[in-house]
Amino acid sequence: MRYFTSSMNNATHFFRRHLFEWAAANPRPMPWKGEKDPYKIWLSEIILQQTRVEQGWPYFEKFVAHYPHVRALADAPEDDVLKLWEGLGYYTRARNLHAAAKHIAYELGGIFPNTFDALLALRGVGDYTAAAIASFAYNLPHAVLDGNVYRVLARYFAIETPTDLPVAKKQFSALAHEMLDPVHPAAFNQAMMDFGATCCTPSQPGCGGCPLRPECAAACSNRVGEFPVRIKKMEKKKRFFMYVVIRHGEQTWLRKRASNDIWRGLYEFPMLEVAQLAELHTRSIEQVLWPDGLPPAAKWGNTSEYYRHILTHQDIEAAFIELHLPLGTDPAFFRLPWLEGSFEVPYLEAKKKFAFPRLIVRFFDKNV
Ligand code: ADE
Ligand code: SF4
Repeated sequence: MRYFTSSMNNATHFFRRHLFEWAAANPRPMPWKGEKDPYKIWLSEIILQQTRVEQGWPYFEKFVAHYPHVRALADAPEDDVLKLWEGLGYYTRARNLHAAAKHIAYELGGIFPNTFDALLALRGVGDYTAAAIASFAYNLPHAVLDGNVYRVLARYFAIETPTDLPVAKKQFSALAHEMLDPVHPAAFNQAMMDFGATCCTPSQPGCGGCPLRPECAAACSNRVGEFPVRIKKMEKKKRFFMYVVIRHGEQTWLRKRASNDIWRGLYEFPMLEVAQLAELHTRSIEQVLWPDGLPPAAKWGNTSEYYRHILTHQDIEAAFIELHLPLGTDPAFFRLPWLEGSFEVPYLEAKKKFAFPRLIVRFFDKNV
């Protein structure tokens, strides 16, 4: 007896079965795997939005050790949370994490939301994270949709829709939900993530050993390199930062970034944003920063090599210039508009005590 099945159902069946087979044959131990505590799953997903698994792993363990439950995170001072987040970048995520923890602890009575919509309402939680928590913690049938899933589906079905068009989301989400095993959504989502991250990778995917290959439209037509389709390659904004590392005896000067710009709430050396680093000379810096002249015994020190830091929408190059000011320098020399809000701290304690952008941490690593 033959039953009518649409080709989609066949495809669905094949896809699920072989994806689960692949997952069983390629175990990938991670500390949050099999975790059922929504708080810990949430932590891991927010961290993994920001970094790769290997790099996120120690951060996850640090956060769980410092803040074993949502109340502990809610009650932590923001500076501590940012300090723990240091090195991951994009600190808005850490701030949202903290704000959401407070909301759960104090407005939801400490009870973690347990539906997709309620999860989605949390600060910093989008469709992806809500689906991950809903499926991992509560086994609810929500398919995760991230870059990995787009790529796997785009290749497997040879989908021509550019993934960076708004219309793509609906199409890919529908497809992901058709593929999703409604009885085992947690295992399915985890397998998709692992498969996308380690087999169906952006470059040089492991098609040779891929169990989905017999039905993979891209592989079968030798067009794996064409998927996922994108319409635009992003133009990044280039910025140049010149940090002045004041050395005043044992002290240096720092300030907290407060503007609406990147790295809000993190600390840095006083700095000048310039149009180019290449033409920068201490003479011209001097004229901008100390229009009335430097203290007589001031001495410019080393200019660092250039440090590059690439963010999603910005490409930053920075140099660090040391300026040695003798003890007993007239305080008037520090009352300058560009030093407003800056304060003096022992140079050797700065790195430990304050949260800095990764770029500055790299400078400290080479210069203490
Ligand atoms: N990336 C985001 N979440 C993940 C998870 N749970 N496992 C592996 N990679 C991930
Ligand atoms: Fe991805 Fe290659 Fe497998 Fe197709 S055959 S799903 S492109 S790894």
